[in-house]
Amino acid sequence: MDFWTVRGGKKLYGSCRIQGSKNASLPILAASVLACGETELDCVPRLRDIDAALRILRHLGCRAEQDGNSLYIDARGLVHSCIPEDLMHEMRSSVIFMGALLARCGEARLSPPGGCRLGKRPIDLHLKALRQLGAEVEERGGEILCRAEKLRGTVIRLPFPSVGATENTMLAASAAEGETVIEGAAREPEIEALQDYLNAMGCRVCGAGTGRIVIEPRGPRGSVRFRIQPDRIAAATLACACAAAGGEIELLDAEPAHFSTVLHFLKEAGCDIITKQCCLTVRSDGRLRAVGTITTEPYPGFPTDAQPVLMAALLRAEGVTRIRETIFENRFRQVPELRKLGAEIRLEGQTAEIRGVAHLTGAELEATDLRGGAAMLVAGLTAEGETRVRDEGHIARGYERFDRVLSALGAEVRRTDS
Ligand code: EPZ
Repeated sequence: MDFWTVRGGKKLYGSCRIQGSKNASLPILAASVLACGETELDCVPRLRDIDAALRILRHLGCRAEQDGNSLYIDARGLVHSCIPEDLMHEMRSSVIFMGALLARCGEARLSPPGGCRLGKRPIDLHLKALRQLGAEVEERGGEILCRAEKLRGTVIRLPFPSVGATENTMLAASAAEGETVIEGAAREPEIEALQDYLNAMGCRVCGAGTGRIVIEPRGPRGSVRFRIQPDRIAAATLACACAAAGGEIELLDAEPAHFSTVLHFLKEAGCDIITKQCCLTVRSDGRLRAVGTITTEPYPGFPTDAQPVLMAALLRAEGVTRIRETIFENRFRQVPELRKLGAEIRLEGQTAEIRGVAHLTGAELEATDLRGGAAMLVAGLTAEGETRVRDEGHIARGYERFDRVLSALGAEVRRTDS
């Protein structure tokens, strides 16, 4: 159990380097089982979810070593195509091993994945796409069994641009006979990262970043060294933290274009944002104004992952902000906790109405999920007195040394575990 203690009222100043992207690293770690040689990954964040992916790789028989933010994987010794339930339950991304194992071994045996409880989170789109590629998929007694003598390329139309279903389909299709076209694909930057990794490995994939991805039949060939892109949600979280607390921070190694919708609302709220190619400066006097209506959408729309942290930044903004959540049914779990600080938030279905208050007061909170937990820390930075967040380990799943990052910017944040 982690306990985060935040003493509010400090402005943030200084510069910090943005961690590598969790959600780009995880599918690439699954994809590394396809490599015919070694994989070296740079800028991989040290996180609980990354540890979970490494445990899966080792269980499968791969060598997986971590040295700071570099990872070395050798999947040539892979001997299993089955992932036990306890490893599957550790995170959502374990499901991406399904497409990767199917491509590598012609079979995969696993159970439904874990991850943040944000709603139902079915995997029907993943399974349907794998079946269309020619896999037999059976769901039996809590297990999913996939088998394919031969995967055949085809046109797959996703009715919703699911990030995970797009990734699983890309991986399985990389071993298919003939070309696969994914229409209605997710367009997130993490999909482009997966495409770039597969291509660096010798596959031929194009179109990522658009709704139409084409995977040509050419399997992986050699070793690969690859650098993970900056984490757009970690960057958005720090930008929201500075907006709320006030101050001036510089985010280095960030990719502002990847979270421009978040920056747009921070500007609307009254922050100065200066973007350069790989860094940006956020300046705020800590007195924000409400921004009207925010609607979460698939990329390039406003990201659901940044919704809780932007909500936290706007709790003291003058006026009323409405947030409409359209991606997950249950992504307002932070709201009852934020109310304990004195926030005025009204929930009606999938819309939250935030009426800015003059003061927040520190309280004892419980982290509900990864981004909800981060939102509580952001709110704590602006609350009078001490906020303590009890956390089963959600925040460390996605933020690398978050206490140190915030402290280096001048915040009073401590993390203790028990
Ligand atoms: C990815 O999850 C991210 N996780 C999530 O980040 C992110 O919130 C989400 O994309 C949306 O941007 C990783 O990349 C590891 P989806 P994923 O499939 O792939 C429904 C974070 O905080 N759906 O695009 O699980 C689903 O229920 C995490 O870092 C189906 O109905 O997201 C949801 O409502 C949390 N059937 C919506 O689509 C399916 O088969 C979006 O899910 C698949 C999805």
